Amino acid sequence: MITIFFATQTGNAEESAENLLKHLTEGGLTARTKTLYDYQAGKLAEEQVALFVVSTFGDGEPPDDAIPFYAGLQTLAEGSLPGLKYAVFALGDKCYDEFCKFGRDIDAQLGRLGAERILATEECDLDQDVKLPPWADQLIPLLAEKAGAV
Ligand SMILES: Cc1cc2nc3c(=O)[nH]c(=O)nc-3n(C[C@H](O)[C@H](O)[C@H](O)COP(=O)(O)O)c2cc1C
Repeated sequence: MITIFFATQTGNAEESAENLLKHLTEGGLTARTKTLYDYQAGKLAEEQVALFVVSTFGDGEPPDDAIPFYAGLQTLAEGSLPGLKYAVFALGDKCYDEFCKFGRDIDAQLGRLGAERILATEECDLDQDVKLPPWADQLIPLLAEKAGAV
């Protein structure tokens, strides 16, 4: 199963997650969206492919809803998610010093946990609507290739 996790403060990342779902479905894949609110980081061990569509708020912080998830992620033991494949689509704004910091932090944590990044993180400077279709187009064949695991 492919799960598109989103973390949003004002709705943009949720909208991008829904758009990504639409692209993947049109590309012949089965996926679902899920909010990171109330999602326990330890449950990631049950996922096969996790796509993260997340914004950054405050001064490089996660959106409020994703703070407990991120705290949990940081407590997981190094190398404890070796079977997980993932990619990150990060929403942000270059006006802020900590550009796309939460997306970068998730990527770093998943690397520490031994998960496999299947596509480079896409960092958006308020241009997520422009960047999403080509990013999804790159992702679809990579996911289809791993269909055995999906
Ligand atoms: C108060 C505030 C703080 C923000 N802080 C950051 C930041 O530290 N880094 C960044 O890249 N973008 C920052 N942004 C920009 C948001 O990430 C961007 O507007 C994004 O599209 C919001 O997505 P969302 O609606 O899913 O939360 C901030 C925006 C606001 C309003």
